[in-house]
Amino acid sequence: MNDIAKMGALAPEAAAHPDNDLSAFWMPFTANRQFKSQPRLLARAEGMYYYTPEGRPILDGTAGLWCVNAGHCRKPIVDAIAQAAATLDFAPAFQMGHPAAFELSSRLVALAGKPFSQVFYTNSGSEAVDSALKMALGYHRARGEGQRTRFIGRERGYHGVGFGGMSVGGIGGNRKAFSGALLPSVDHLPHTHDLAHNAFTRGQPQWGAHLADELERLITLHDASTIAAVIVEPVAGSTGVLVPPAGYLEKLREITSRHGILLIFDEVITAFGRIGKPFGFQQLGVVPDLFTVAKGINSATVPMGAVFAREGIYEAFMNAPQNAIEFFHGYTYSAHPLACASALAALDVYEAEGLLERAGELAGYWENALHSLRGEPNVIDIRNIGLMGAVELAPRAGAPGARAFEAHVKAFFEEDLMIRFTGDIIAMSPPLIVQKTQIDQMIERLARVLRRLD
Ligand SMILES: Cc1ncc(COP(=O)(O)O)c(C=O)c1O
Repeated sequence: MNDIAKMGALAPEAAAHPDNDLSAFWMPFTANRQFKSQPRLLARAEGMYYYTPEGRPILDGTAGLWCVNAGHCRKPIVDAIAQAAATLDFAPAFQMGHPAAFELSSRLVALAGKPFSQVFYTNSGSEAVDSALKMALGYHRARGEGQRTRFIGRERGYHGVGFGGMSVGGIGGNRKAFSGALLPSVDHLPHTHDLAHNAFTRGQPQWGAHLADELERLITLHDASTIAAVIVEPVAGSTGVLVPPAGYLEKLREITSRHGILLIFDEVITAFGRIGKPFGFQQLGVVPDLFTVAKGINSATVPMGAVFAREGIYEAFMNAPQNAIEFFHGYTYSAHPLACASALAALDVYEAEGLLERAGELAGYWENALHSLRGEPNVIDIRNIGLMGAVELAPRAGAPGARAFEAHVKAFFEEDLMIRFTGDIIAMSPPLIVQKTQIDQMIERLARVLRRLD
């Protein structure tokens, strides 16, 4: 019997296929050899739980990858996808349309509220980011400012893996193998993570708003007339839940507006209820010009992303001649019928169950639970906002990242808990349906893991 068959992951007839072992799948963002020596397989999911092939329930502390906001395999969403697949399997979005795409767009802009008026669909967060960057370039060009081609990102920002997102992103490891091929005109703000000032802050730190002033320095260096957009995650997720200092985003907004630079928020993680309101910008009180979403848009059931544009951006493109394509950009699967159906159903579930506000209601409980880990071995910082949280561990001498990686593996095998790690930071972001008792379980299990780590 081969590896997967032994683990009972697949139906017997599939597992019996001689080629069906672990070798052919080149896994993304994974230590492939380590994984294949110690596989962590998920065979099904329901509500707050994954189940391994042997049927072991794994409490999902991460909503998959920050994305299964409505909880797993929710019936209304599953049914909507099945019905869409049987009714309209595919419809081109180039020069054609289907009703669900328009209905979804109207509902989404209503959820975002003024000044947002347009939604452009993609299949992922990475594509949403690259689309937003192209939209920014096209917008300036349409208004006669085609020299604005520079982007400003931020250190420790994650904006996906397209060449645009990678270039504005600020994670060295994601860039270095491709560094000769990144976008040429990009600069970066400093990140806002500072343990000396902000360790164990609950919610937004009071220290750090001045870091936004660095934008003025970059504007002096490059000249505002060359800068198309500044892009940041309102809360940096992938590099370990870096919560924006109070006043920081406000400053970015003020400076960008003053210089005619677009402000893009990458809300791939923060949108759809993660930090308390439907969108992160609503919770944080700073309105960008464009923002990107994906993940929670349909509780991650079908690949989908989108860019929201405020009034005035779409209109700038509409100066093109009648019958001319105004924006030369799009994907075969933009507004795919299954994705639209799943998003409409997810919005129904979110609304019926109040899930887009639930992170706000649970934030205090989550914060207290998470901060109860202060004092556990090697914990050097804890931070939180909405239903996002991170526990930063001291790195092991000579082996950065090893301690949190081990925590992830131990949590899975020994505590039936799914957590994420990035460097030596453990990150958690449970589905928005999480119960307080399940938050307690997550924290108890994580505490036991921390006590067992060297
Ligand atoms: C802020 C942010 N932007 C972009 C992305 C990329 O999204 P995707 O993996 O769907 O391409 C992610 C993924 O985690 C993200 O967190």
